[in-house]
Amino acid sequence: MVLSFIGTGNMGGALARAASLNRNNRLLLANRHPDKAQQLADLIGGTVCDNLQAVTDADYVFLGVKPQMLEEMLQDVREAFQTRKSSFTVVSMVAGRTIAQIQEKIGCNAPVIRILPNTPVAVGEGMILYVCSDEVTQEMEQGFLEAMAGAGRFSKIEERLADICSVVGGCGPAYAAMFLEAMADGGVACGMPRIQAMEVAAQMMLGTAKLMLESHAHPGVMKDAVCSPGGSTIQGVRTLEERAFRASIIDAVIASYEKTLRF
Ligand SMILES: NC(=O)c1ccc[n+]([C@@H]2O[C@H](COP(=O)([O-])OP(=O)(O)OC[C@H]3O[C@@H](n4cnc5c(N)ncnc54)[C@H](OP(=O)(O)O)[C@@H]3O)[C@@H](O)[C@H]2O)c1
Repeated sequence: MVLSFIGTGNMGGALARAASLNRNNRLLLANRHPDKAQQLADLIGGTVCDNLQAVTDADYVFLGVKPQMLEEMLQDVREAFQTRKSSFTVVSMVAGRTIAQIQEKIGCNAPVIRILPNTPVAVGEGMILYVCSDEVTQEMEQGFLEAMAGAGRFSKIEERLADICSVVGGCGPAYAAMFLEAMADGGVACGMPRIQAMEVAAQMMLGTAKLMLESHAHPGVMKDAVCSPGGSTIQGVRTLEERAFRASIIDAVIASYEKTLRF
């Protein structure tokens, strides 16, 4: 399978790195400043190319530029998309751009998989939500999932849910990092060395998330399991409730969602 990445920045680079874990993938890396693509190729393998070759020579063409750069990037390759004879799939990670908009910008009804990835893709623990256009065959979808399996967990969604899914999955790492920082601060305030406090907080979050995914337990049940009667955990829970911890997070998700709708 040949996968090309146009734009090897934070997200395109992380996805290319995940793709490099599958030995059956051959990678083509294109970036406005090619030295950035070369640095990535030195790390993960693959061949540096220009945008045109990325469009003409790959089975899956990943679009990894910022939304405001998309039009300029497509100017030189639109015709190559339109005239390609062999089968290919466009994989767009461009935030806020629908499948219909991507097809309109390319100027043809190419098969498009719209993905909503997040930064933990970089360590193979990403949450990758995706939507397929009508033109994407089962074989194309399966090929995509196999090629990108090293990126993390995949879930197919309806496009009408893309914006809110991208907030929970994509903005979430920022909220989670704030929670981790605050847990570590609390530990430091009570005498823990910073490094140790961060390690304990991070592993605690990783383990809790894994427990929830593997046991399918409701988070409320998981919370209750830690709160022994008259114990210390319930005092922390009481304090969080007093300071509107859950309401703050619900409001944060709604605020990010409303902003997403205004882009
Ligand atoms: N970061 C996230 O958490 C995240 C999550 C979900 C979706 N996304 C989406 O992923 C896309 C990339 O985001 P990012 O955070 O990776 O941004 P980024 O780090 O700025 O990467 C964008 C890359 O595109 C390259 N580029 C710009 N114009 C180009 C052109 N005409 N031809 C080839 N390459 C070009 C840039 O090259 P230069 O550096 O040389 O300018 C840069 O390496 C965006 O559409 C974003 O919405 C990001």
